[in-house]
Amino acid sequence: MELTLEGRRIVLGIGAGIAAYKAPQLVRRLTERGAAVRVVLSSSAAQFVTPLSLQAVSGLPVSTDLLDPAAEAAMGHIELARWADLILIAPATANLLARLRGGMADDLLTTLVLASRATVAVAPAMNQQMWAHPATLDNVNALADRGVRVLGPAAGQQACGDEGPGRMLEPDQLADCAEHLCYGSEPRLRGLRVVISAGPTFEDLDPVRFLGNRSSGKMGFALAGAAVAHGAEVTLVAGPVALSTPAGVNRVDVRSAEQMHNAVHEAAASGCDLYIGAAAVADFKPSAYALNKLKKSGDEGMTLALAQNPDILASVAALENGPFTVGFAAETEALEQHARSKLERKKVHMLAANRVGRPGCGFDADSNALTVYDANGETTLEQQSKVSLAHRLLVLVADAMDGSTRSESR
Ligand SMILES: Cc1cc2nc3c(=O)[nH]c(=O)nc-3n(C[C@H](O)[C@H](O)[C@H](O)COP(=O)(O)O)c2cc1C
Repeated sequence: MELTLEGRRIVLGIGAGIAAYKAPQLVRRLTERGAAVRVVLSSSAAQFVTPLSLQAVSGLPVSTDLLDPAAEAAMGHIELARWADLILIAPATANLLARLRGGMADDLLTTLVLASRATVAVAPAMNQQMWAHPATLDNVNALADRGVRVLGPAAGQQACGDEGPGRMLEPDQLADCAEHLCYGSEPRLRGLRVVISAGPTFEDLDPVRFLGNRSSGKMGFALAGAAVAHGAEVTLVAGPVALSTPAGVNRVDVRSAEQMHNAVHEAAASGCDLYIGAAAVADFKPSAYALNKLKKSGDEGMTLALAQNPDILASVAALENGPFTVGFAAETEALEQHARSKLERKKVHMLAANRVGRPGCGFDADSNALTVYDANGETTLEQQSKVSLAHRLLVLVADAMDGSTRSESR
C-alpha cells in the first residue's frame, strides 16, 4: 500500500461514545498509511476503550490526563498541540461537540484543540435523536463556521437499536478523510456546488456484451473526496466502477454515456458552480441494441455500426450561466497538441491532460502526472498519488475561479 500519510502527525482524539470500540482499528488504518498517531482520550473515554490497546496499536504513548505531572514532563499539552498536523476527533460525542463549541478547556483533548493551529476534524457519533437535537446541530454548525471539518455522520443501524443518522464513519472512510485533510488545510471551495463525473461508461451491444474502457474512476473519486475536504457540496456521477463512495459525497450511479449526460445535466440544473469531467466517456455507442445475444454466422467477420454519444463536457461548457468547467484528456501521443485543441474546441476553462500507457500512471494506477492547460498557460503536476494530485488540481481550479470570471477566462 502506498504510504499516503507518510510523515503526517495526527492527534486522534477519542470521545466517550460507544463507537470508541472502532478506535484501535482507525489507529491501524492511519499508521498503515504512514502517519504517526498520538491518541488522546477525553476524560471519560477510557470507560469505552483501553489506553493499553491504543498504545499497543499506535506504538506511541497515549494521553488522557491534563493535570498529569509525568505526562507534562514528557510531551506537554502545548508541545502536543504544536506537534499535530491534524487533530481528528472520532468519535465526537454530543457532549464533546458542546464542549468544543463552548471553547472549554476542561480536559486534555479540549485544551489541545484550543492550543493548536492544526486542522481540526470531528466525526460525530451518537443516537439519531441526539444528533437531530437542535442543540447538537447548532453546535456542529457553529464549529463548521469556525473552520472545524465535520466528517459524517453516516445513517444506518445504531448500537442502541435505532436507525437513522448518527453512526460514525467507518475507519477506512475516516482514514481517507484524514488523507484529504492533510493536503487541503484551507477549504478553498467552501460553499461551492461541485459536480464530478468519473469512471468509464459501458455501451451495451446485447444482453451480455458492451463496449467499455479501462478507466477505474480513481482520479474522479479522489477529486470528489478532495472537493469535500475543501468544503464543497459534491455530486459524483459515477460510471461502473468498483470503488467505495468518499464520505460526504452524493453519488449517482450510471452505466452509459447517455445516462451520464442526463445525470450530469440534472445535477447541473439544480445548481452547480464547478463541473469536473473526469470520466472516460465513450464517444460512440452501438447504433442498435440487440435484444438477444448476437450469434456468430459462419467464418465471416463482423462490422459494428456505431452512433455518436452526446458530448457531456462541451454541452456543460455551453450552458448559459453554466459552471466553471474542467475537462480531462487521456492521450497516448502529442499530448499538448491534443489537449490545447480539446480546450478550445470544447470551450472549457481548464483541461487536465495525462499521458496514458506509462508505468504507474493513468488508468487504474494509484498515481498519475498531469499537465493542466488554461487560457493563461500550462502547469505541470509531477507524478504523485491521485489523492495528492486531486488536491493540487483543485487548488489550481480555486485560484482560477478566484482570479477570473467565466467570460474573462475564455
Ligand atoms: C453505554 C453508553 C454509550 C454512550 N454512547 C454515546 C454515543 O455514542 N454518543 C454520545 O454522544 N454519547 C454517548 N454516551 C454519553 C456520553 O458517554 C456522555 O455524554 C459523556 O459525558 C461524554 O463524554 P466526552 O465529552 O468525554 O465524550 C454514552 C453513554 C453510555 C453510558
